[in-house]
Amino acid sequence: MQQMIIEIVFFTVLAAVVLGFWALMTYVWKPKRKWPGWVLYLLFITAWFMTVRYFFLHQVELFGTPYYLWFTLFRTESYAFAFSLFLAVPVLLLLVILYAMVNRIARRWANSKAQRVSERTDFENQDIPTPDPIGRRNFFRTVGAVVPLAALGGSSYAAFVGQHEITITHERFGYTNLPDGLKHYKIVQLSDIHVGPSIDLDDFDEILSLALKEKPNRVVITGDLIDRVAWLPQVCEKLTAFSKQIPDGVDYILGNHEYHYDVHHIVDSIKKKTPLNVLINSNIQIMGGKQPVYIAGVAYDNKRDKDNREAMITTALSGIPAHAFVILLAHHPEFFEEAVERNIPLTLAGHTHGGQIVVMGQPLVPTGTPYTKGRYTEKNSVCYVNNGTGHWFPVRVNCPREITVITFFDGK
Ligand SMILES: [Fe+2]
Repeated sequence: MQQMIIEIVFFTVLAAVVLGFWALMTYVWKPKRKWPGWVLYLLFITAWFMTVRYFFLHQVELFGTPYYLWFTLFRTESYAFAFSLFLAVPVLLLLVILYAMVNRIARRWANSKAQRVSERTDFENQDIPTPDPIGRRNFFRTVGAVVPLAALGGSSYAAFVGQHEITITHERFGYTNLPDGLKHYKIVQLSDIHVGPSIDLDDFDEILSLALKEKPNRVVITGDLIDRVAWLPQVCEKLTAFSKQIPDGVDYILGNHEYHYDVHHIVDSIKKKTPLNVLINSNIQIMGGKQPVYIAGVAYDNKRDKDNREAMITTALSGIPAHAFVILLAHHPEFFEEAVERNIPLTLAGHTHGGQIVVMGQPLVPTGTPYTKGRYTEKNSVCYVNNGTGHWFPVRVNCPREITVITFFDGK
């Protein structure tokens, strides 16, 4: 019942957005026949929506069949289409406002000039035509065609490239107090894989084999592992085979998507069916000696207030001696604030997906945190925010999916 209501609301909103967009297009384009266009457009969008919906519902059964590829192409393009609406509508509105302003100023200027001419030449009561400096019809025709097409073309490119591009980033972290065991130690960070509609089991295989090629000592998965819970058995199987090839094993923490889907089922399966270390506000000692090394992991259940974060990190660090070297795994980079207060040398985070659409170094969509992508240093602490090894919305610009390879060295 709840699912049905969500779908009805979702479809109503989608229909309102596309019809609103069509209304704007007919207003700017002024076609001779309006109704057939409306109907065809609505039918087209309904058919598209139903196709993509079918893919979402039957992705698991379709996987591996000849139809699967076509559905994934539809799905990626539907994301691109949605994003192009998001882009084109405000740009069109902005251009229409600019057009109105420019014409208004130009008309005033032309009128006052005509007034002065009429006063000089002493022609009274003559009918002075008001010019239209930018032809209205030409303007709307050009803008109405160019902006949506450019938005659709750019979004489609960004969606298909975003879906297929993956980068391996090598990050070196130096510390003057580095424990001997961490010298040249290599950790691979995978974050926000989101196995599901955008990242299927083949993509997951590719991610795991790219991680293996780096020959890490250890792998950490910093949350948002899976969206399509029906694929959990296969994911567990693949993670078990994968972790057998990682000398010091794999650590896993929870992201908000685990809570959004079925956190109990996911945690239960990962704990029972894989050898992964599941760190839910807990820690694990990974090296002993004079200065032991611990990995601590905090959960992220969408409760973002400071008190909640404080409580989680306090539990996660409990039992760790003060002289230990701590690596904190936190899905949301907001925890860096608490990590700085506690002098934690390294925090590995994700969640933001790097902002996904980055123009001139700035994410186009606000991420709600100052720690969006890459490395941040404050006092004695460093935080690294992974771009997301996967995603659930494939549109990406200047922000490819990322596997981070972390190595440590002695000194700054
Ligand atoms: Fe995510």
